[in-house]
Amino acid sequence: MTQIEKTEIAVQDTPLVPIEKVVSLCKRRGFVYPNSEIYGGVSGIYDFGPLGVELRNNIRRFWWWSMVQTNDNVVGIEGSIITHPRVWEASGHVENFVDILVDCKKCKRRFRLDHLPPENQQQNKCPECGGELTEPRRFNLMMETYIGVVEGDKMKTYLRGEACQNIYLDYDNVLKSSRQQIPFGICQIGKAFRNEVTPGNFLFRQREFEQWDLQFFVHPSEMTKWFEHWKEFRFEWYKGLVNHKDRLRLRPHASDELAHYAKQAFDVEYRTILGWQEWEGIHWRQDWDLSRHSEYSGQDLSYTDQETKERYIPWIVETSGGVDRTFLNLLLDAYEEEPDPAGKEPRTVLRLHPWIAPVKVAVLPLQKNKPELVEKAKGLYKQLQRVMVAQYDDISNIGRRYRRQDEIGTPFCITIDFQTLDDGTVTVRERDGMTQIRLPLDEIKRYLLERVNWNF
Ligand code: GAP
Repeated sequence: MTQIEKTEIAVQDTPLVPIEKVVSLCKRRGFVYPNSEIYGGVSGIYDFGPLGVELRNNIRRFWWWSMVQTNDNVVGIEGSIITHPRVWEASGHVENFVDILVDCKKCKRRFRLDHLPPENQQQNKCPECGGELTEPRRFNLMMETYIGVVEGDKMKTYLRGEACQNIYLDYDNVLKSSRQQIPFGICQIGKAFRNEVTPGNFLFRQREFEQWDLQFFVHPSEMTKWFEHWKEFRFEWYKGLVNHKDRLRLRPHASDELAHYAKQAFDVEYRTILGWQEWEGIHWRQDWDLSRHSEYSGQDLSYTDQETKERYIPWIVETSGGVDRTFLNLLLDAYEEEPDPAGKEPRTVLRLHPWIAPVKVAVLPLQKNKPELVEKAKGLYKQLQRVMVAQYDDISNIGRRYRRQDEIGTPFCITIDFQTLDDGTVTVRERDGMTQIRLPLDEIKRYLLERVNWNF
């Protein structure tokens, strides 16, 4: 199974969640912090806290499992952030990776020309204050850095602007060392850096972020087949993870939107409070990358078919998405403030897929001053902790503890109560429906493993 078979929960069509709600939850509960906050922060750069790192790791691992581990013709690499500077000339980034900027002469705000409403572009007017805009200027997004120690002798290069370039650089090595033949793919997850002109909307547009890429190498005659295959595969992958499937769509790029390397492209888009926005790009890169790297490096990157002896530059299907955008979209998709029928405070719940949830289970002794309950609860907690991320919580009443776990998306809580001492059963409380069942203590581990692991 390479796609998700999730037990569906009945999800209401809840209102779109304001980003601020998720930002506040992320800070309060230790998912995401502003970077260098004690120095005033750096715009467009974030750190991940204890729960954030668990969520992020689950997202990455699940992608890797779906793309690399369970596809026979796909392998993985991990390339460096800094490469030879010629890479970025060959890739077209030095010349073409630019945003067009305008500044308002009156309020001094800066805008990307392509983000301005059409009437403001036509009238050359600031959308904020109506002031006159400057002439458009080109601004390269690549982040420069220097290799070497001797001043005047340092080599200028770049932090990678897109993670996928390592895959083209290692393509020939992988081909020779991994016994793959075309058609085959190479995957990578890694950081990318862009001097975004207008970073913002929390994790949506950052200056340091993480991408996941598949570059799938094919014979030109099979390009359509594989493009369709991966487009469908990736769309279904996202569909399996979100609750609000109607907020997901595949949108073809218009010809004036295409990146400099793409002949055709689709975006997997998701609708949030920010409107329909790109989540992942599926690009028909054709022979652009390997041809350019052959030309700039002088190394022949053409492929010879073992049977037909035909020689050609492989064409490439790319699927390129963002780990951070996945993190943000899944939180926006999962966040809900559910009214309490008893008229008390609404319940905040993160309806994350159990596979992705940062904490899988919380073990709760009904009372912390009863040694018999504590002993059983700690015993279960220690057993579960070895196979999944678990929390032990004995602070405040049981209702509050359930609420704390709901807010971070923990799919199951196990309560050890007085009946446990009599008949060896415990209460299993499920997050979404808040249903409770009783199960024997010695069945808990298996019950949970079956539900919180994608590969069980
Ligand atoms: N190699 C192709 C490429 O880099 P892209 O559309 O620029 O294509 C791919 O980026 C994905 O990376 C996007 O779909 C998005 O999820 C993520 N991404 C791009 N820029 C980002 C940014 N500034 N902050 C966060 N994620 C970003």
